[in-house]
Amino acid sequence: MTERLRNEGASPPRNSPGDSIAARGNDETLLQGIGLHTYYGVSHVLHGVDFSIRAGESLGLMGRNGMGKTTLLKTLLGLIRPRAGRVLVDGADMTRAPTYRIAQQGIAYVPEGRGIFPTLTVRENLVMAARAIGGSADWTLDRVLATFPRLAERINHGGGQLSGGEQQMLTIGRALMTNPKLLILDEATEGLAPLIAREIWRIVREIAASGIATVIVDKNHAAVTATTARSMILVKGQVVFDGASDELRARADLIRQHLGV
Ligand SMILES: Nc1ncnc2c1ncn2[C@@H]1O[C@H](COP(=O)(O)OP(=O)(O)OP(=O)(O)O)[C@@H](O)[C@H]1O
Ligand SMILES: [Mg+2]
Repeated sequence: MTERLRNEGASPPRNSPGDSIAARGNDETLLQGIGLHTYYGVSHVLHGVDFSIRAGESLGLMGRNGMGKTTLLKTLLGLIRPRAGRVLVDGADMTRAPTYRIAQQGIAYVPEGRGIFPTLTVRENLVMAARAIGGSADWTLDRVLATFPRLAERINHGGGQLSGGEQQMLTIGRALMTNPKLLILDEATEGLAPLIAREIWRIVREIAASGIATVIVDKNHAAVTATTARSMILVKGQVVFDGASDELRARADLIRQHLGV
């Protein structure tokens, strides 16, 4: 009870711009952004975004090209500084913290494009990321290889010899080797053949089912809403939807207006 009261006290006041589902954090909130305004030079990209994700939650982040999805992720991770607003990790203010400090809190980020080490083998790429956070080591090399049979088959191949889909799997596998509490995937299926994309979605569902919180940015709204419990839509740097993925799936109007091609 006292926990609850203390956290309510820490939340933004009612009817403030922060009074959305996203800003209503609680003691389980892993990562939170409150009233984020981010610029590139004079270009104002995020216009007061509230974001939050709780332990074990799966969240889809959607919106057309250039709406600010990647900018929001980078702002939350300390890769870009917001001009206004705050970023909290486990309830602690990390707005000015360096990215490595945020990552150390158990947040793994798989950015757009792939960043594997082409001259290292699959095994070397994976083991060099191995890290146990808070003593937990659920995701071992064996478990990652069991989850990604294609990587197991290519364990001694150089990273540069892998197909695009395999490289994406390796990047996700490497993120899992850090045993994160939260895994953030930005466009993990972009440009992949449908069969490989389907395999990535299977893996994402398996990761989410394992209890790791996930933030999935993807253009395939049907796959996102089928995979996540909660969805957010960004339009020109503002949140226009934040609610249950089931609800969004039933809102053909919103999908057409904000996500349709
Ligand atoms: N480094 C940068 N410098 C200047 N403007 C940028 C930079 N990165 C992004 N932008 C602009 O900021 C806006 C939001 O871009 P962002 O990459 O966050 O969108 P996005 O929703 O991730 O789009 P996409 O679906 O194409 O990945 C766009 O107008 C983009 O052109
Ligand atoms: Mg992007």
